[in-house]
Amino acid sequence: MEKIIDENKQGESLVLEQKEGNQRKLFIESYGCAMNFSDSEIVASILANQGFNTTQNLEEADLVLVNTCSIRDKAEQTVRKRLEKYNAVKRDLNPKMKVGVLGCMAERLKTKFLEEEKIVDLVVGPDAYKDLPNLLAEVDEGRDAINVILSKEETYGDISPVRLNTNGVTAFVSITRGCDNMCTFCVVPFTRGRERSRAPQSILEEVTNLWNRGYKEITLLGQNVDSYLWYGGGLKKDFDKASDIQKATAVNFANLLELCAKAQPKMRIRFSTSNPQDLTLDVVKTMAKYQNICNHIHLPVQSGSNRILKEMNRLHTREEYMELIDNIRRILPNCTISQDMIVGFPTETEADFQDTVSLMKYVKYHFGYMFTYSERPGTMAERKMIDDVPEEVKKRRLQDIVDLQREHSEIRTKAFLNNIVEVLIEKESKKSELQWSGRTSQNVVTVFPKENYKIGDFVNVQVTDCTSATLIGKAIGLSENN
Ligand code: SAH
Ligand code: F3S
Repeated sequence: MEKIIDENKQGESLVLEQKEGNQRKLFIESYGCAMNFSDSEIVASILANQGFNTTQNLEEADLVLVNTCSIRDKAEQTVRKRLEKYNAVKRDLNPKMKVGVLGCMAERLKTKFLEEEKIVDLVVGPDAYKDLPNLLAEVDEGRDAINVILSKEETYGDISPVRLNTNGVTAFVSITRGCDNMCTFCVVPFTRGRERSRAPQSILEEVTNLWNRGYKEITLLGQNVDSYLWYGGGLKKDFDKASDIQKATAVNFANLLELCAKAQPKMRIRFSTSNPQDLTLDVVKTMAKYQNICNHIHLPVQSGSNRILKEMNRLHTREEYMELIDNIRRILPNCTISQDMIVGFPTETEADFQDTVSLMKYVKYHFGYMFTYSERPGTMAERKMIDDVPEEVKKRRLQDIVDLQREHSEIRTKAFLNNIVEVLIEKESKKSELQWSGRTSQNVVTVFPKENYKIGDFVNVQVTDCTSATLIGKAIGLSENN
């Protein structure tokens, strides 16, 4: 199953159409969440106007950019290894190459990067990409360049991103930037700044443009999409101060979903990520009303213990979350639900952990992403709490819930056996060149023989078999959505 964080794609270098006349070569690589992959498309668009074409060959690059992730220590270690690799190529094969760090690590480490990592020439935070042309001019003159200023307005709504390494069928459309939630374990509010929403008009234009270019599915992206709020610009936290007319004409996430669904009635619409404290029943009802909004909600809960939820500053209880799940099931019986979970948060006892296990048993998620707690510098948890759960306990708890999730995924996947599901074909199956791979509305990966179908077709597939997470079947015809 695919989440917005596709582990297979981590570190993939990106290529786009070559613009004639561009002489310089850009190698750009992304790590972390879908927002980073989407941001790299914005960066490549900006640099295409600065004489850069992309390359996948490090040795010939004039400029190497790495879009980085700070969410866990391991993510940062991976990037550091890549920087060592660039360093070696620069030293041995390509001395003219310049190296820049983008994204969350750039924001978190700021000038420390220029001091610590001698290889870095350029440090650019997530809100400063439009300054890249100026920063590159500095670098060309032999100086280090840095801009890590966070913005209250920047949404890149006016930049039409190029699509990198695309399958031509599915695309990300970012709708909010930053996050105001301040979960105590999370570095994102520090690296991506305050939450702001992009104008609905610019989102709708991008959706229509994608449809006209043959795209069939979009994922509306944000750290906390349910918190989307447009009232003419400005930070979410300043909405109180908006005028009456601004308040009366404001667009919330349920409204935006409806606008997108109506604008392109055949375009599949997904969104990620939802936060239980902000997901409203209006959103769920809108999903029920429009056939083209996919029946899947990624609804991270992080823990099943009320005490730990409170320590994490997740602003809901276990009971409220369960009630939300019940409501989703009532309004949208066919909706799949997935989770993110953290084990070993400071002070987590065995009893707290068992609450996580029992919550998982209550929901029986279709799939999920589980992590051991990683202390992040500057977060509330790091400042106020001791990372006191021993590593081996964290690992054991993680293994327990990974095993439990596998059982649940299997039960959930088997429930589709003998059904007919609508699949949007995205690519060739990794396991066989004779098979297509795509996803159902519920985000379940499905493979089936290619026959005469092609990428981008919506196909009805009779499910005949499955693995723990993938449906296997046979096409019975094009669906009505084509
Ligand atoms: N709202 C965001 C969450 C970003 S982080 C989104 O768009 O998905 C993705 C997941 O990483 C979180 O849901 C959480 O489960 C995990 N995570 C975040 N900080 C972490 C930390 N310090 N240690 C371990 N896992 C963490
Ligand atoms: Fe992080 Fe919580 Fe926002 S997990 S991205 S602070 S919703």
